Amino acid sequence: MPVLTILTYPDPLLKEPAEPVEHIDDEIQQLIDDMAETMYQAPGVGLAATQAGIGKSVIVFDPEADPVNRNFHVLINPAIIDARGKTVSENEGCLSVPDFRSDVNRFEEMVVEGLDRHGNKQRYEATGLLATILQHEIDHLHGILFIDRISALKRQIYQRKRKKVLKEA
Ligand code: NI
Repeated sequence: MPVLTILTYPDPLLKEPAEPVEHIDDEIQQLIDDMAETMYQAPGVGLAATQAGIGKSVIVFDPEADPVNRNFHVLINPAIIDARGKTVSENEGCLSVPDFRSDVNRFEEMVVEGLDRHGNKQRYEATGLLATILQHEIDHLHGILFIDRISALKRQIYQRKRKKVLKEA
């Protein structure tokens, strides 16, 4: 099964907002399978289609990230219905933001609705890690990275480090 290439910062495609999925066709089914394989292989707890340069509103996630005992979820066209409370996700990271982690201000509770791969409506009332994953992945669909949600100073430190790494590569 083909595994997708994950784009990394500062690839401009990571800033492109995703389009809603209108038909859950074979192409979307394949995309979901490929995103799942990519996420488990990385490994990561979540992946948005945006990270593969595909501008479709699809996210996959598995808070346990265990490729053997999979607790796999997909949401097509996820929408935030409600967001409540405040928390700090500790040491958040992203497959598209190499060699960097940071605490990020997040909502404590999220209500998110979307569709599963069969077009059935799904509703998640999430707290803790799952709430953070949902915020992080939905942000990707809007072209937002977690480094857009940290202080400008911290972001600049990362940007400089990243530029240096890319220059030396
Ligand atoms: Ni990410």
